[in-house]
Amino acid sequence: ISILVVHGPNLNLLGQREPGIYGSLSLADINRLLELEATKLQVGVFPVQSNHEGVLVDKIHSALGDYQGILINAGAYTHTSVALRDAIAGVNLPTVEVHLSNIYRREEFRHHSYIAPVAIGQISGFGAQSYVLGLQALVHHLREKSV
Ligand code: DQA
Repeated sequence: ISILVVHGPNLNLLGQREPGIYGSLSLADINRLLELEATKLQVGVFPVQSNHEGVLVDKIHSALGDYQGILINAGAYTHTSVALRDAIAGVNLPTVEVHLSNIYRREEFRHHSYIAPVAIGQISGFGAQSYVLGLQALVHHLREKSV
């Protein structure tokens, strides 16, 4: 099993960006946590990050054929991007949505996700652990499906 991990806009700044909300780990630290968990689960994880909506759309398209699932933190595009949602629906790969912060206890504009209706599920509010839990959930889903 190979999983494409998609990090959206501003997540390259993790560690220095609003640490009270997003924590002190860098994106590289989060990718290392995911790598550790992937080793335990005996799957591969392949992280990509972009601040550009179209680049993210291209990355999602390129998952077809090479990956069995997508783990995505779309950042602010969660709340704005029909294009990312359509890309996920278009490739039709099982997708889990994650957020470091609990988007439902923050500003109203973060309460709506365009990604949620095309995802298997969403994990929000557990900091870096959201990614680890999301990976576990996605791999569990993929393994259940194949038996
Ligand atoms: C985020 C939540 C979004 O509302 C925000 O725009 C982000 C990060 C999170 O991981 O908590 O960039 O996706």
